[in-house]
Amino acid sequence: MGLFTRKKKDNAPENRPVPRHIAVIMDGNGRWAKKRGLPRKAGHKVGAETFRTIATYCKDIGVQYFTVYAFSTENWKRPQDEVDALMNLFRSYLKEAAETMFERGVAVRVLGDLTVLPEDIRAQIAEVDEIADRLGPDAATASLCINYGGRDEIKNAVRAIAQQVKAGELAPEDITEDTITANLYTAHMPDPDLIIRPSGEIRTSNFLLWQSAYSEYYFTDVLWPDFKTTDLDAAIDNFNNRNRRFGGV
Ligand code: FPP
Repeated sequence: MGLFTRKKKDNAPENRPVPRHIAVIMDGNGRWAKKRGLPRKAGHKVGAETFRTIATYCKDIGVQYFTVYAFSTENWKRPQDEVDALMNLFRSYLKEAAETMFERGVAVRVLGDLTVLPEDIRAQIAEVDEIADRLGPDAATASLCINYGGRDEIKNAVRAIAQQVKAGELAPEDITEDTITANLYTAHMPDPDLIIRPSGEIRTSNFLLWQSAYSEYYFTDVLWPDFKTTDLDAAIDNFNNRNRRFGGV
């Protein structure tokens, strides 16, 4: 034992339980930029850095899965220059983030309907997957949902299950909740325990609809580009004071 020992508090980050899976709706980038007289894309750029910081912090404190909403199936309706800016951000960021986060032991994954993304971004996502695979199945995982919509995901799962029934591989009476879970983009991960939405908006916006059945929600006015590791600590402390009953008493 050293000469100086630090007395640890019960709620010190290193002493408390953490959720296994945290998800975030990264909201407020546009307002963050507007407040500074900057174009909206500047907010997305800082938001991407916040993703990297918080994803790495999650790994460091023992959160196994961190999942964020980066581009929804509805975001194509935004002005073309903003859609282009977000695609360019993915272009310049995805592989680079996957490599730097690999060094920190975090596997970056991309979830969503990727079939309609530009070819070069899809190729980059394939490389991101290869980098993540090198960390093995037990690595802490940070997933970016791109062209993701909860309803779209469930529709695609239903289609895949219908195909299995049509092919005679599955009887309708054998379809269970687990069958649906297994056909979602998130099949390989547990449901989120905690879903955080910054920026003061209080809705789910089509994010992880099936998976959030028993998730705890945490809302904060902080805008995503301003979101700090201390804000994550506050959300986790709040989560740890909740009484999760999963429909029981
Ligand atoms: C919502 O804020 C945010 C988005 C639609 C995009 C989120 C994307 C990022 C943070 C970039 C992530 C990219 C990588 C590569 C990690 P908003 O634009 O709706 O903000 P507002 O409600 O203030 O207008």
